Amino acid sequence: MSKITAAITAVGSYVPDFVLSNQVLETLVDTNDEWITTRTGIKERRLLKEEGQGTSFMAIKAAQNLLEKANLDPKDIDLVIMATATPDMPVASTGVYVATQIGATNAFAFDLQAACSSFLYGMSTASAYIASGKYKKVLLIGADKMSSIIDYTDRATCIIFGDGAGAVLFEPNTEGLGLQDEILKSDGIGREFLKIEAGGSILPPSEETVKNKQHFVFQDGKTVFKYAVSGMADVSEKIMQRNNLAHDDINWLVAHQANRRIIDATANRMELDESKVLINIQKYGNTTSATLPLLLSDFENQLKKGDNIIFAAFGGGFTWGAIYLKWAYTKK
Ligand SMILES: CC(C)(COP(=O)(O)OP(=O)(O)OC[C@H]1O[C@@H](n2cnc3c(N)ncnc32)[C@H](O)[C@@H]1OP(=O)(O)O)[C@@H](O)C(=O)NCCC(=O)NCCS
Repeated sequence: MSKITAAITAVGSYVPDFVLSNQVLETLVDTNDEWITTRTGIKERRLLKEEGQGTSFMAIKAAQNLLEKANLDPKDIDLVIMATATPDMPVASTGVYVATQIGATNAFAFDLQAACSSFLYGMSTASAYIASGKYKKVLLIGADKMSSIIDYTDRATCIIFGDGAGAVLFEPNTEGLGLQDEILKSDGIGREFLKIEAGGSILPPSEETVKNKQHFVFQDGKTVFKYAVSGMADVSEKIMQRNNLAHDDINWLVAHQANRRIIDATANRMELDESKVLINIQKYGNTTSATLPLLLSDFENQLKKGDNIIFAAFGGGFTWGAIYLKWAYTKK
């Protein structure tokens, strides 16, 4: 029997309608369009403004978009993995709710949290379930409502993040397409540099923590930047070497959209031509778990069966890694 690999066979996405531009941010904090554009590459981001709605709202829409495009019966899905750093609630699981809402009544579901690397880690997890032969259809959703944990008076973070969702379907492949190799890393040294201090088991929420704004994201941007540049570039270079891939062999770099300069540094280390680097950070900012599937969705028409893609991400924790995947279809 030929080896089973896990291939991506469909993608879907959703972003909220509300646009927060750099020009509007100029009215909220001491910043300007020129600084944000040159330091991050971001021009605008989307925010979920629907009253009483959380991450699941966007995740459901992205999954429904995929189901419709792929003409897939949700009852055929075996497993739903919900990659997110902003679950609807700490308990119960967001993925379980999403699975039920989309009609994936035969699936089991769970949440996976690895900050901005959640989706990348989710690709590894989904792929392992498929390659084991246990499951045939695994829906991986990456969604985050970052606006729910951002302080819009903190210019160090509010210029960067946005809300969004994307979804991919993993299925078995016997033609050698799909996930080929992965390097996943983590290092607890990162905990001090990118965190939400309160609301967890160390510092449960209180009047005091809210007053001190400890329920918002804190980031030491400069330090995270340094680790992100070396971390993402190192694993991307290593996965190329390990698979004997020269820069000409790579068709696309699908990298976490946190900062244009981090993506460029990774692409430079890989000696990749700019035309192979997928970018949509200017439209969405950093949507955390949604950046990679939003890229796949935006550029799906350009991806061809057999294309060699390197995925790379870096996030809080720290967590980071790279995945080498052969694309499995050409969209008609
Ligand atoms: C956050 C980030 C964009 C800041 O860019 P930076 O080039 O590191 O900027 P610095 O923090 O060094 O600040 C440079 C200057 O700009 C100023 N500045 C910071 N934020 C600003 C803003 N929003 N608008 C205008 N000026 C700003 C600083 O005060 C500093 O001024 P000074 O030189 O007079 O002291 C960048 O560090 C970053 O992208 N970090 C990593 C993000 C990331 O990858 N996260 C992990 C994945 S989730």
